[in-house]
Parts: sequence; structure tokens; C-alpha cells
Amino acid sequence: MDKILVLDFGGQYDQLIARRVRENGVYAEIVPYSKITAPQIKERAYSGVIMTGGPNSVYDPASPHFDPALLDLGIPVLGICYGHQLMAYMSGGTIEAANGISEYGKVEFRVTADVPLFKDVPEKSVSWMSHTDYVSRVGEGFEIVASTSNCPCAAMCDRRRNLYGVQFHPEVTHTEYGTKIIRNFLYEVCKCSGGWDMAGFTTRTIEEYRLKLEGKTVLLGLSGGVDSTVAAVLLHRAIGKRLTCVFVDHGLMRKNEGDTVERTFRDKFDMNLIRVNAEDRFLSHLAGVSDPEDKRHIIGEEFVRVFEDVGGDLGHVDCLAQGTIYPDVIESGAGDAAKIKSHHNRSIPDVIDFDEIVEPLRDLFKDEVRRVGEELGIPRELVWRQPFPGPGLGVRIVGEVTKDKLDKLREADAIFCEEIEKADLSEKPSQYFAVLTDTKSVGVQGDARVYENVVALRAVTTDDFMTADFTRIPYDVIARAAARIMNEVKGLSRVVFDVTSKPPATVEWE
Ligand code: XMP
Repeated sequence: MDKILVLDFGGQYDQLIARRVRENGVYAEIVPYSKITAPQIKERAYSGVIMTGGPNSVYDPASPHFDPALLDLGIPVLGICYGHQLMAYMSGGTIEAANGISEYGKVEFRVTADVPLFKDVPEKSVSWMSHTDYVSRVGEGFEIVASTSNCPCAAMCDRRRNLYGVQFHPEVTHTEYGTKIIRNFLYEVCKCSGGWDMAGFTTRTIEEYRLKLEGKTVLLGLSGGVDSTVAAVLLHRAIGKRLTCVFVDHGLMRKNEGDTVERTFRDKFDMNLIRVNAEDRFLSHLAGVSDPEDKRHIIGEEFVRVFEDVGGDLGHVDCLAQGTIYPDVIESGAGDAAKIKSHHNRSIPDVIDFDEIVEPLRDLFKDEVRRVGEELGIPRELVWRQPFPGPGLGVRIVGEVTKDKLDKLREADAIFCEEIEKADLSEKPSQYFAVLTDTKSVGVQGDARVYENVVALRAVTTDDFMTADFTRIPYDVIARAAARIMNEVKGLSRVVFDVTSKPPATVEWE
């Protein structure tokens, strides 16, 4: 299978580049520039290399550089932004700091030469720029093939060696012909044949694990989240009842959530499932605790303890399966297969006797995991679930967590979600939920004065959850949700809507 190396120089769009390549049918993996050498790139037989952007200046001695031998391996290279400048620098060109003129945002660029990278890209189109340094002179063997009014070398090419550099970002949607340019790199320059798709991945992976896990028993901790759900169904297809899933219901789930998860796994997929109703255990450990970090810690610890109790009873299992996905692997050091993200390490129970860890989704991005879920026939409401924090409603109740507060919050949250889902919104929020604050306020209900808690509604729009904007939910939708919450849930005094973005706030309140 063709594969593209995304050589990571620390740019903010690195994962996006890999996702774009994969969306266009070719497998891509991200490796930090310091973790691979030019000979290794040759050895691993990549079809092409993309050098990413990054926050540095190539003339800064501390900035990341790479072995110029990369340019002579006979493998096509595309440098983007910092990668473009570095490629110019590596081949003897000159980079300068723009004199007070930095290009940022949408900029018109002109293609000035007929090269495979720009096949079917019109002479003039819009590109997304974000740079202060620029290539003022190209290196040996290169020619300028596109420019903008402020940037004489918006793109360059060495036709003989199949090397390209672009100052703009083809991976972001604001670049009008960005997808075309990425496809041209894959199919016109690198001559890839495609074939990376989730239907193929699903079939291949089931077969791979059928062989690899022949005769073995596997234990998987199921949270009900997308990743562990998809990992479970995939492994179940491969090894059937030799897979046992343990679903720890900590009592901090949303309304009906635990039952939906159980029904799906037991009835629809006929899997070996152990559901542990551990609400009492969790609530007794959380009694009197109001610090958010303490709550998180207690919930995380207790999770492992419950899992251990169940796993310990099962005796020896051959493998422990986890729903680790590609961003977890990259964050813990790409390409280093031995490393597992620290939070995964922490969650591996000590008392369970197992030989091996199995991570069937470790090469996939979240959107790919969801598509595998669809291939496997997992219900849409599970595959397209919005993110839900591991500590659950435990971090959506400000202050101490009690059963009474949980029940109130579950009802308010379900009403808000129902109203959002019923409304025909032009902008669908990426995540929406209710928070039970620890603020009390006065209200008048019936003829009586009440003094009860305030519920906050939160809806955010985001691509990556690193930054987020609050979603402009129409007032009438908020009004309907607020009226129903006040009518249907006892013990609340008012409803407020959170209009803060991230940053400066976070998505969750705790
Ligand atoms: P914040 O609040 O950090 O949230 O802006 C960003 C995204 O992460 C989710 N989140 C968590 N997920 N364990 C998780 O698995 C956690 O402790 C946790 N805290 C926040 C949050 O729901 C949002 O999608």
C-alpha cells in the first residue's frame, strides 16, 4: 500500500495534512523530524514526503533542520510553509524576513508555470497564507512556479527531482484548490494508486486479528464512547465470544446512556458483556469532594479498581484491548510503537494477568474511526456521539456530586439535547450539554419564593476542541429548553446560557 510521510516540524496543521492525504485515498503517517533519518525514509519506501509548517525561522540556529540528502532520495517531496522555506534553505536558496509585510489570511496567488502539482488549477485562485519569512531566492535546480503580490515565490519546483514547495497551506479549506493540489501531489507527482478507505480497512483488520488472535482470549474496557465501542465491535467480528467487554457504569452517565450501551452490545451484537453497576461505589468515594481535579482523580482511580475486581475474577487473559487512536499515539511520540500514552498506562490494571495489548484503531483518526463504526453497522447515535468526558457528569456538577444533583442534571441535559436535536439549526453545535452550577438564586414558583440551583446551558462549535466558539443558538430554541427545564425539573431556580468562547474559557466548566 502507498504511504506518505508527513515530516513534522511542529506546525499547527500537521494532523490536518495527514487527514487530507488519507481523505484522498492514500495512507499517511506523521513522524517528528527528529525521529527519522533520510536513509530510514528511503528504507521505509514512502511514496512521497510532505514537510510541514512550523513556528520557526530557518535562520535561527535552534530551528529544526533536516538532512539535505532527503532531496536526493528519488522520493517526491512537498514542503509547506516552513517546509517550503526549509527546502529552499537546504538547496542553497535564501530566506528573508518580510519587511513589515507578513501575509496572513486569504491571498490571491498566480500560477506562473505548467507543472504537475498545479494540473487543472486556474491561473488565479485564492490561497491561505500565514507567514512572515519568505523565499527570496530559490536554490539550485529550482524555478518559481507561482507568486502573490507580496510573495515572489509562492511556489517552487525542481522538475528533475520532483520537489515542490508552497508558501501557502493547501490543507486548509480556505485554499480554493487545496484539495486539487494535494491530489495532484499524490496522484500526478507521487503516482500513488490510492485504495486507503475504511471499507477496506475494516475487512483487512478483521481478517488480520482473526489470524493474529487465533485461540486467544481478549478483555476490553468499554466506556460507551466511540473509540472503545468501535474497537469492541471490530474485535468481536474477528474473534466472537473470545472477547469479553467490561462496561463500568459509574452512575455519572447521561440519561438512559448506560442502558443504550448495554442493549447495543448485548442485543444487537450478542457480545460477552459484563456490566458493573458501580454507582454506589463512585458516589461514596466522591462524597464531600468538591475540587474538580480531586474528583477527576477519584473517578479515574475507582474506574481502574472496579475493572481490576472484575478482571481479577476472570483469571488469565491473553490480551487486553484498548481503543487507542492515532492522535493518542502521535501525542506520545509518533513512530515509537513501544510507547503508550501515559493515561493509558495508568489505566492498565495491575492485577489483570495478560500477555499483550491489542489496539486495532491505533492508526486511525477520529473521523476514520466513525466511518469504520458505520461500516460495522453500529447505530448512528453511538457512532456520532458528541464527546463526553471520561469523568462524565462528575465534572458537569460544580462542587460536590450527589445522586440528587445527578438526577436533576440528567433531566435538564436531556431536555436541552432534545430541543437542540428537534430544532432545524443552520449551525449544528459540535457539543451541547447542561451544567449544574453551585450558585443558588431566588425564584418565585407558584406563590412561593424558592432558593435553588442555577443550571447553565453550553453549546460550542469547533473543529478540534482546542479552540471553540459558543454556538449562536436561536433565542426561541433556548427559550423552549429553559421553559421546559423549569417546568419539568424540580429544585432549580433559573437557566442561563454560556456565551464564552475557548479560550479564554474551556468547553467544560470543570
Ligand atoms: P475542555 O473543557 O478542556 O474540553 O475545553 C475539550 C474537550 O475535551 C473533553 N474533556 C474531557 N474528555 N476526559 C475526557 O475524556 C476529561 O477529563 C475531559 N475534560 C474535558 C470535553 O468534553 C471537550 O470535548
